[in-house]
Amino acid sequence: MISLEASKKVCSKQAAHLTRAVIPLLYRAHTVGLGYPATIRIAAIAQRCRSSQNTRSFSTTNANQLRDIFPAKETTYIRQTPPAWPHPGYTEEEMLAVTPAHRPPKTVGDWLAWKLVRLARWATDLATGVGRDQQVDMKNPTTAVAARKPLTEAQWLVRVIFLESIAGVPGMVGGMLRHLHSLRRLKRDNGWIETLLEESFNERMHLLVFTKMAEPGWFMKTMILGAQGVFFNAMFLSYLISPRITHRFVGYLEEEAVHTYTRLVQEIENGDLPKWSDPKFEIPQIAVQYWRMPEGKRTMKDLILYIRADEAVHRGVNHTLSNLNHVEDPNPFVSDYKAGSEQRKPHADAALKATGYEREEVIG
Ligand SMILES: [Fe+2]
Ligand SMILES: [Fe+2]
Repeated sequence: MISLEASKKVCSKQAAHLTRAVIPLLYRAHTVGLGYPATIRIAAIAQRCRSSQNTRSFSTTNANQLRDIFPAKETTYIRQTPPAWPHPGYTEEEMLAVTPAHRPPKTVGDWLAWKLVRLARWATDLATGVGRDQQVDMKNPTTAVAARKPLTEAQWLVRVIFLESIAGVPGMVGGMLRHLHSLRRLKRDNGWIETLLEESFNERMHLLVFTKMAEPGWFMKTMILGAQGVFFNAMFLSYLISPRITHRFVGYLEEEAVHTYTRLVQEIENGDLPKWSDPKFEIPQIAVQYWRMPEGKRTMKDLILYIRADEAVHRGVNHTLSNLNHVEDPNPFVSDYKAGSEQRKPHADAALKATGYEREEVIG
């Protein structure tokens, strides 16, 4: 990732590495993850680096270069393996109601979490070669989505694959630590673990969908490996020290995710991304099955609307969890409420409450 920026300067030597790192592919595969047999088309795009113009572009690879990245294992008896956490689904209105939003920091911990996320966004922009003309209004970085120049499909794929490989870490770390805490302290968890693990599962599904469109090369894989090593340990320590700040950090990270996907939806709608703006572009079958996407609603834009809604749910859930007492409070998203207090239960999709629920609203 980092060398994507560097590639601008030493293009001729590193282009070969980077090309393989971010090769976007359009190809046919015969089976997909989750054990569902299917035929899918996957975009194959070769990134070219032109040192003089500093641009990237796409082309379709030959059929003989196509391969399935994670084919389902055929066994004698097993037909398929459905997801452990079936997706609850969204209505179209719910997905369209998602908008970029920002929860202003209220405490020092909030401020620290926000600044760390801003630093991460700056580094990601740098690493994916986002030029000044491709940046949004920096005074409103999390809500403004218009830029003078769109990102390229290659930049989008690099960005989302790298970010989704990171996004699946915090929920797993939080869930794991709460699980271990419950075991060693002989205490109930009150429903947090499942929500956190489900979040990490959902993020992994995002990653798998995008890796059906582009296979990262060795350079990208190395970056993902290194980033996971650093991020897992940082999250581990951070969650031990302060679950409150860590959930706030994830809430802000998810604000960025909603922002990123809103911008992607807009660039698809504007026709800025030739392959993805084409309504005939076939999205991976694994996505159709996971979100149970209805017939006629399976364009790239539809797919990104589902993913964006997921990110918005993570945003609302993590901002809410940050507002709670992590030792005593039950998880309001999975709790049944007393008669007369049912209206206190958070909306099933937290997407509609971008800044999260305050403790008084849902715990009392
Ligand atoms: Fe995600
Ligand atoms: Fe997310």
